[in-house]
Amino acid sequence: MGLSKVAGTVRPQAPSFRRVRLSRVVLPALLVIGFLLLTSYNPPQSKYVLEFHGDAQLTQSQWDRFDAQLQKCEQYSAPWVSYSFPVPANRSNPRWNPVSGQSQTTILRNVTLFDGEILYTEPVDVVFREGVVQSVSSSSNAAEFKADSNTIVRHYNGDFVTPGLVDMHSHHLALSWPELANTADGNEINDETGPLTPMVRSLDSMKPYDIAASIIASGGVTTSLILPGSANIMGGEAFPVKNFLKGGEHGEEVVEELLLEHGIPKEDRRRYLKMACGENPRRVYHHTRMGNAWKLRHHMARAQDLRENQDAWCAAASTAKQNRDATAVASLLAEGPNGKGGLPEELELDSSVAMLRGKIGINVHCYEPEDFEDMLLHSEEFGFRIQAFHHALSAWKVPEMIKSSGQNITIATFADFSLYKKEGYDGNLYAGKILAEHGVPVAYKSDHSDELTNAKYLVSQAATAHSFGLSEILALQSVTSVPARSLELHHRIGYVKPGFDADIVVWDAHPLIAGATPKQVFIDGKSTLDERVDHSRTNTLDKPKMRAETAPEDVGAFCSSTSKDDTVIITGITTSYLKNLHTKQLSSTGNLTMVLTNGQIECLGEHTECVSTNSVGKVISLHNGHVLPGLTTVSSGLGLIEIPSEASTVDGAGDSNANIFDPESALYAKYGIHSEGKAFDRARLGGVTRSITYPNTNGFLKGVSAGIKTAEGSNPLNGGIYKDDVALHFVVGQDAKDSSQTPTVSKSVASLRKILSENKGKDTLYGKAADGKIPVVVHTENKYDILQLIKIKKDYPKARLVVYGAAEAPSVADEIVAADLPLIFAAAHSAPSTWEKKDVLVGPPLTISSVQVLVESNVTFALALPPDYDWHLANLPIEAAAIAKQAGLGAQEAVNLFSGKLDDILGFEGVERNSDWVIWEGNPLEYGANVVLTVDGNDGAIVGCWPESD
Ligand SMILES: *[C@@H]1O[C@H](CO)[C@@H](O)[C@H](O)[C@H]1NC(C)=O
Ligand SMILES: *[C@@H]1O[C@H](CO)[C@@H](O)[C@H](O)[C@H]1NC(C)=O
Ligand SMILES: *[C@@H]1O[C@H](CO)[C@@H](O)[C@H](O)[C@H]1NC(C)=O
Ligand SMILES: *[C@@H]1O[C@H](CO)[C@@H](O)[C@H](O)[C@H]1NC(C)=O
Ligand SMILES: *[C@@H]1O[C@H](CO)[C@@H](O)[C@H](O)[C@H]1NC(C)=O
Repeated sequence: MGLSKVAGTVRPQAPSFRRVRLSRVVLPALLVIGFLLLTSYNPPQSKYVLEFHGDAQLTQSQWDRFDAQLQKCEQYSAPWVSYSFPVPANRSNPRWNPVSGQSQTTILRNVTLFDGEILYTEPVDVVFREGVVQSVSSSSNAAEFKADSNTIVRHYNGDFVTPGLVDMHSHHLALSWPELANTADGNEINDETGPLTPMVRSLDSMKPYDIAASIIASGGVTTSLILPGSANIMGGEAFPVKNFLKGGEHGEEVVEELLLEHGIPKEDRRRYLKMACGENPRRVYHHTRMGNAWKLRHHMARAQDLRENQDAWCAAASTAKQNRDATAVASLLAEGPNGKGGLPEELELDSSVAMLRGKIGINVHCYEPEDFEDMLLHSEEFGFRIQAFHHALSAWKVPEMIKSSGQNITIATFADFSLYKKEGYDGNLYAGKILAEHGVPVAYKSDHSDELTNAKYLVSQAATAHSFGLSEILALQSVTSVPARSLELHHRIGYVKPGFDADIVVWDAHPLIAGATPKQVFIDGKSTLDERVDHSRTNTLDKPKMRAETAPEDVGAFCSSTSKDDTVIITGITTSYLKNLHTKQLSSTGNLTMVLTNGQIECLGEHTECVSTNSVGKVISLHNGHVLPGLTTVSSGLGLIEIPSEASTVDGAGDSNANIFDPESALYAKYGIHSEGKAFDRARLGGVTRSITYPNTNGFLKGVSAGIKTAEGSNPLNGGIYKDDVALHFVVGQDAKDSSQTPTVSKSVASLRKILSENKGKDTLYGKAADGKIPVVVHTENKYDILQLIKIKKDYPKARLVVYGAAEAPSVADEIVAADLPLIFAAAHSAPSTWEKKDVLVGPPLTISSVQVLVESNVTFALALPPDYDWHLANLPIEAAAIAKQAGLGAQEAVNLFSGKLDDILGFEGVERNSDWVIWEGNPLEYGANVVLTVDGNDGAIVGCWPESD
């Protein structure tokens, strides 16, 4: 019902969009004469008789068919729409409607504008009406704007404004939140179609009620390309949407009204195709790369045949018309052995032929050099252009090869998400910078499907890329105009300039600053957030910073020649976040000097107090030195898993059928630790010196975690495992259901009870757990499950229960406090991605921060990243900063939540506590700081010196 209604309302009267297009289409002159007669509606039959000769008697419907098919022929040869610039300022937004569209003119006064291309140096005023930007003008010489019933004036006092972000790779709407088995419509996988499904469309999978769209919009992402998944070599057609639910005239849940090109005739809309190389189709269909390639080439050869048949038919039809030859027309239409049966068409091959005709933007999930090369070979063989390689984590290795295609292929990639499989293991934090230096366009995208890829945080990828060397402007472009251009939608989105759709984000800080959050997001001119009128909040326009790629000379010299007994004098330290060091009063000059002897801090204070004229030592002079405690992560991967998808690089997932009531079944991380792999590099870059690593077992019983060090060269003999048995880990909740012994959540609760009740006083692992001699860490997200743990804690008060994960804890914070149940909260940036945590707080700007709730409720908690985030460890201090900002915490507190607090909760004492410390150049709580020295707190050894990126 809804759909037929939509179909009836799609065509607008005469959108200017269409005029732009037609004015640029060169109609082949030969088709014009006579054709106009053919194409006029319901012409009297006599006209054809007059115009055409020959014996054939064709019916009106046959003439109509010929006419329609000739029109298709004409479309084949017309170019895919491109646009000239500047876009007409009086353009209208085809999505706008007079009922629910932006009704008042909005004026954003006094904003700092990045317009998609450049960053304005003076504040400007931005005016938009009916979903289109009208003007951008200097604030200083503007007349006072008057707010009245037709005009809203918003004063922003220099706040940063950007175009709505454009995410060219997302799966929301097709895979809606919370994920459910029956709404997972991402990949068309079935035996009948196999890995070639160019004929399916993500449009047909979309749920116009997916709450993810609003969450994503709250991160400033206003447009997303919704692609089919990557299981198939050809996955299907993709569609760009605006992240505004129920935006149509009637405010109903209608897919059509989400589409960016809503309001444009369907036949004039852009098309996009998703393809995939490499591991996914290989794995899903048991092919090799050879098989993948053959499947594609075979399919494209079929499409090529069809295209040739179409072109031949079109040429013959054109000649028949030119010659007014009705007999020929009849034969072109006739079925059977003597006829051509009309224009050859095959719905199944429609998008594949469109590829060959350059009428569909090709977006290929592809990671590795050999896969790019192969796909480029195919593109040359069959003559199609690739719009973008997606994910493409190894593209930085072969920018020239990619460029040599001449296709101006965009690399739509991740800034730091990587390492999760072989084809993602070569991810390079400097990839954006390297690609840009070679002139390859770089876009960052989310791949949004679960919490891990939440598109809400897209901007943080641009920020990360900037901190690793991509320029500020290119970083801002990488999530705005570059993806807009790549998608050839840059006449509408990706810019804040007159004539563009009014998709605009007002930020509470420079968007490349840690924790930058939208204050307001306009989509088609409509505001989407309840804006807190909170101008008291200090708004920083501090410029984001880049990390130094190589160590300053004296640091470099020091690193290459240092021994532990050298005295080291470090000047230029401005800030120390260390609590328990015998520091002198903080310097009045903001320039402290530290003297290290044998790895012990002899002095940290004014230069004159710490250093006498005859002091000797190696000097490191910093500009903005910071001292931060070493951070601790909680991980299932670090030391046990190098490449998650490669079993031979992983310790193993254990036997989920092993008897969970037998303590001998528990795995011990300490026996499997290999202290190497790229995630360790990232940990060292992030000043993360220790990890609590637990076995990655499936099901209820995970096993016993170990405390490990991340310093290079750590091993089990040299203290690399600093605490053998940290805690016994169980899962209560949906993830416990993996095991045949705990097929239900209730069974996981019952099993934990049984273990705690039946093992008291025993000298076994479970006995220690029951008697509180080792903490019991329970991985749980759901609020009801947390309440069950509170009951368990009451019934077994000796056991030292800790909840890890705890996404829904804010909903039951009072009960948690009353029970004095500590948390390792891993859900600071959580999302309602699964049913069991559908009630999480998604955080600013939509809700209060979950961490703020925990703090204000006096919950005892430490912070951790969620599982499977080891690739993100270089940014752990940034996470601390972002969390602190959103929760209103001080930096020191946030840092402590990722270090000392964790030790408190796990009951670490003495040498078990993380007493490492790290000297940084720059503020590690902002992007762009580098680790200078890492010092092991136990023995004072300098265990890291200017660690390099992987
Ligand atoms: C937009 O401006 C162009 C050039 O100034 C003009 O030709 C056109 O008629 C205008 N269109 C509308 C809808 O006002
Ligand atoms: C713009 O905002 C800045 C920062 O609050 C302020 O100093 C300046 O006076 C404002 N300019 C105008 C024209 O309102
Ligand atoms: C290449 O693509 C990028 C991004 O799509 C665009 O900004 C640039 O202008 C294009 N270059 C050429 C030569 O077309
Ligand atoms: C800090 O003080 C030391 C010693 O006086 C001096 O050499 C150094 O240049 C100063 N550093 C900065 C960043 O001001
Ligand atoms: C949390 O603790 C502080 C200090 O002890 C107290 O003032 C405050 O009322 C407590 N908050 C709640 C919600 O219990």
